[in-house]
Amino acid sequence: MNTPVLSVRDLVIDFEGRPAQPALVQGVNFDVLPGQSVALIGESGCGKTLTSLAILGLLPPRMRVASGSIVLGGVDVLRASERKLRDLRGRTIGAIFQEPMSSLNPTMTVGDQIGESRRLHLGESRRSARVKAVELLDRVGIPNAGERARAYPHELSGGMQQRVMIAAAIACDPAIVLADEPTTALDATVQADILQLLEDLRKDLGLGILFVTHDLGVVADFCEQVVVMYAGHVVERAGTDALFGTPRHPYTEALLGAVPQAGRARTMLSVVPGRVPPSGSLPEGCRFRPRCGYALEPCRHAQHGNTSDVHFTFCDRVADGDLVLGSKS
Ligand SMILES: Nc1ncnc2c1ncn2[C@@H]1O[C@H](COP(=O)(O)OP(=O)(O)OP(=O)(O)O)[C@@H](O)[C@H]1O
Ligand SMILES: [Mg+2]
Repeated sequence: MNTPVLSVRDLVIDFEGRPAQPALVQGVNFDVLPGQSVALIGESGCGKTLTSLAILGLLPPRMRVASGSIVLGGVDVLRASERKLRDLRGRTIGAIFQEPMSSLNPTMTVGDQIGESRRLHLGESRRSARVKAVELLDRVGIPNAGERARAYPHELSGGMQQRVMIAAAIACDPAIVLADEPTTALDATVQADILQLLEDLRKDLGLGILFVTHDLGVVADFCEQVVVMYAGHVVERAGTDALFGTPRHPYTEALLGAVPQAGRARTMLSVVPGRVPPSGSLPEGCRFRPRCGYALEPCRHAQHGNTSDVHFTFCDRVADGDLVLGSKS
């Protein structure tokens, strides 16, 4: 059996000490298998970053995982000590965020930053870590890696900084990389190069990748599985072809709205009329109901019937067989 490198089950994230407040994230279930690329999509405020931070054991103060489980490389993240979490963050999971400069240390050369991770997590000597850092910079496509290793982050372009982040993320041979909007701050050609680099690393190193993105082109081109979140919940989860070809949840259909299928141009999520409700003012019943073109009276009392695990859909009408969205293929 192919054991997942990341397994998230029934995740609930809420504010500590405020039990009356509805959860920020609830009902999140998905796996990432070794070498598999999984996309996490949904409009702004749907809970993608909170889910990612919970996986890293880095939720903001006052927020907590109230229930559920997160297993990373066989380790229960929610029961891990702070020390174990630090170890997991280097050795099992690497993280890449949107703004490389917010994660890189401006006072340290990029070579030292990458080497430090190996010294810390693998106990490597300074000399050997330095050699490995140059190798890694070369692997992520930085020209003259030996020389660039001595540069400070601000001396590099945005695209090069993101490559450094990727080198740092894979420095200790993690099993999975979490990339939260890793290319949003970059211009289009650099974006494409960075995405290709991640794809090459996935194939060459068998890395699992959890990709948080608004870019459906990235999903179509690079991801095998898609997890769609709405207002803190996973509303649909399926293989990429199934999700693009026959979306089953009205929210997914709305997000895919204008995506051309042939040629699969790089297209952002479509604009769905209305807004994601904040966790403090969720509608009763189905959370998507006020924006859903298919909503009926019973959706006010939705129980959220679940459909198959292979193509999961969080909609009572779909679960009842009452609603089948039109095929887009
Ligand atoms: N530090 C925080 N304090 C209070 N509420 C927060 C905090 N961070 C996130 N939230 C709330 O949690 C919800 C989920 O936010 P999250 O950042 O996970 O969304 P997201 O899906 O990553 O959005 P985006 O696409 O804009 O990055 C939102 O309603 C947001 O307002
Ligand atoms: Mg986010």
